[in-house]
Amino acid sequence: MIDFRSDNVHTIADPVLKEIIVANKNTVASYGGDELTKNAKEMLAEIFNKEIHSFFVSTGTAANSLSLASITPEYGTIFCGSDSHIYLEECNAPEFFTNSAKLYPVKTKDGKIIYGELEKALLFHPSDEFDMVASSLSISQATEAGTIYKQDEIRNLKNIADTKKLKIHMDGARFANVVAATAKKPQELTWEAGVDVMSFGTTKNGTMSAEAVIFFNTNLSKKTNLYMKRSGHLLSKMRFISSQIIGYLKNDLWIELARSANKKANLLSENLNKFDFIHLPWQTEINEVFIIVPKELEDYLKKHGVFCHNWTKISLDSQYHRDNYSFLRLVTSFHSNEKDIYKLTELIEKF
Ligand SMILES: Cc1ncc(COP(=O)(O)O)c(C=O)c1O
Repeated sequence: MIDFRSDNVHTIADPVLKEIIVANKNTVASYGGDELTKNAKEMLAEIFNKEIHSFFVSTGTAANSLSLASITPEYGTIFCGSDSHIYLEECNAPEFFTNSAKLYPVKTKDGKIIYGELEKALLFHPSDEFDMVASSLSISQATEAGTIYKQDEIRNLKNIADTKKLKIHMDGARFANVVAATAKKPQELTWEAGVDVMSFGTTKNGTMSAEAVIFFNTNLSKKTNLYMKRSGHLLSKMRFISSQIIGYLKNDLWIELARSANKKANLLSENLNKFDFIHLPWQTEINEVFIIVPKELEDYLKKHGVFCHNWTKISLDSQYHRDNYSFLRLVTSFHSNEKDIYKLTELIEKF
């Protein structure tokens, strides 16, 4: 079996597991009133070089939904990429958690929201007395296409969003991969570019289950604790999430793990690019490789034990919307084995 299904299929990194075991003694305050939680929050503040308010949950969907609920009223509109996870793949959790705010999809290119499309969406958005209210913009960093918004691209979106005073949310499920790939400081890619709140993912990059909602604009977090409890996301044994975050951040483990995952994706990408019947629609910038292949190649790979996901064609050119093309996503992690990349290449050579 050669497994490129997701970063979620992989193991917990050893140092993270060790921190959980270290945390597994004595009695401590519950619901986040413990020292480890305080320490984890301080570490995050240090990494982002800012006073922040942070909240820990166990899934990325909860982090996104609680972030959005904190910055969007129930009558609000959340602008987001038409290929975004919050729009397509969270079973309407953001709508549910916001108590019915509307997700408003905006076209993307290479995973990035097109400026002109956002401008148009804001221009045509109704603004009469009883209309829904333009409230927030959500962007994914890295994008759903595995590409990276540069700092000035985020700033440009922020400038457009400012025309309607939108708050900015960032879905950072793979933020570590972005930092590792760009060598930028976390602050440059977030609050310095105008992000108000982010979902800081760790689970895909070596923890068991730990995501942080981080408010850079601390005025916006007043109700978040209540939303956490009300939605069933306030963990009583919070120390075990906090200890994961400590293990993840300590000694820059998060960057090391993400760098390793990115390196393998680059190798995979280079190998796949050699075949003229495989097309990569987007540059590989983090740990995800997207490929368009003849359907027969997909069947051949699956028959030979290669595991990967078929991906939505929503952002592909219409020429690829035909049945004889398959669109696949291959994901690597710190725990992926380079040998699998060479095995896959050999397999394709024999196709
Ligand atoms: C970009 C992005 N955001 C959010 C999530 C949600 O994470 P979870 O599955 O932990 O709810 C995912 C998971 O695949 C994701 O890829």
